Amino acid sequence: MNANGSIGVFDSGVGGLSVWREIVRHLPHENTIYFADRGHVPYGSKPQTEIQRYCTAIARFLLEQECKAIVVACNTASAAALKYLRETFPELVIIGMEPAVKPAAALTRTGVVGVMATPATFEGRMFQATAGRHAYAIKLINQVCDGLADLVETLEVDSARTETALRAYLEPILATNADVIVLACTHYPFVLDTIQRIVGDEIKVLDPAPAVARHLGRVLAERNLATSRDIVTGTHGFYTSGDAASFATALRRLVGVSATTQSVSWISADLVVECANSSTFAIG
Ligand code: DGL
Repeated sequence: MNANGSIGVFDSGVGGLSVWREIVRHLPHENTIYFADRGHVPYGSKPQTEIQRYCTAIARFLLEQECKAIVVACNTASAAALKYLRETFPELVIIGMEPAVKPAAALTRTGVVGVMATPATFEGRMFQATAGRHAYAIKLINQVCDGLADLVETLEVDSARTETALRAYLEPILATNADVIVLACTHYPFVLDTIQRIVGDEIKVLDPAPAVARHLGRVLAERNLATSRDIVTGTHGFYTSGDAASFATALRRLVGVSATTQSVSWISADLVVECANSSTFAIG
């Protein structure tokens, strides 16, 4: 691995962009490559072994694009495949998402914390382990939000349908005296404003993305993999296994970035770039 490589960031779709934007904010001189597996979205209702297969192929693809580190910007994929990816690529820096139960436990005054996630995240061993380590003294209200990631994928971030769905997901949490809510799916920060409006200012809503970006910065520095700060702004490439034009629209709407996106196809268990003239984009 060399410090001039890119940071590979992936998710089942657009959710990981909530992590990507924090990485770019915190490490503006780093190059990034974002991959959205929209050909398989949503991951949240899929078996763990199937998600592991996709994640392994995506990691290989990102390594072919000369990535020096990979961020699994998806709680569902981290729950299913983070341990497996670290065993498969032992030399590689791999950062994953862990539900922010630890900071929530430190923050709560009532001792009750709501967690919003996909079914697969709650089923994964990672969630059980995190809850066992950090939530022994508090009560967790685990709310499966099946379908919420799909609403973000279709860019219904401020539609009436999404508000109705959010009210239904939040009702069981609001019926308790929870004072902290953990967003344990990277799609959900894109509806954070609506969540905050529904729950009111007394309840803190935690998006772990800034902490993940800071952690990545520390790990890159420790491993001598940080890009030289002489490079003022990094360049960014975007790939998807779904429709490239539709991803480019999502990129503009969700994070305000106008850039072309490259299509990549799943050919049996591998990812193949459809057209070789990849383009990168510099912010700023
Ligand atoms: N963004 C993903 C996560 O953080 C999940 C969305 C999906 O179900 O694909 O869990």
